[in-house]
Amino acid sequence: TTNRTFTMIKPDAVAEGHSGAIIKMIEEAGFRIVAVKKVQLTSERAGQFYAVHSERPFYQGLCAYMSSGPIIPMILEKDNAVADFRKLIGSTNPAQAEEGTIRKRFAKSIESNAIHGSDSDENAKIEGDFFFAGIEQF
Ligand code: CMP
Repeated sequence: TTNRTFTMIKPDAVAEGHSGAIIKMIEEAGFRIVAVKKVQLTSERAGQFYAVHSERPFYQGLCAYMSSGPIIPMILEKDNAVADFRKLIGSTNPAQAEEGTIRKRFAKSIESNAIHGSDSDENAKIEGDFFFAGIEQF
């Protein structure tokens, strides 16, 4: 599944009403939405998703933030999806995000950075499977 990636529109961007604009940017960049839903994580479930960061100083804050309101997880499809999507969202730190990227437009800080994008094909599969059953991934 090298042509798929996983994303979440994060709580700040959903709460501020930016999900429509963000999805428009994603579709205009050539991504097809394979699966989409709106859910709210518990702090514990957020902790499971971000387990790889469990030793980082920002882990607790990240779990609190990611469970603070509804998010919109999606599986996306496009040639070269993982790399092209990371280009579209821009740097984790919005101060370094390039013009025209989703984070440049909507991220407020390195934590409240509006959107997630998988960093590898392997993680895209793991992260997509975290939110979506196989039958939803058509
Ligand atoms: P994301 O790409 O979803 O992956 C891990 C998340 O942790 C990241 O986006 C940010 O929301 C958050 N994060 C990464 N680095 C920091 C940091 N230095 N301080 C606070 N939050 C961070």
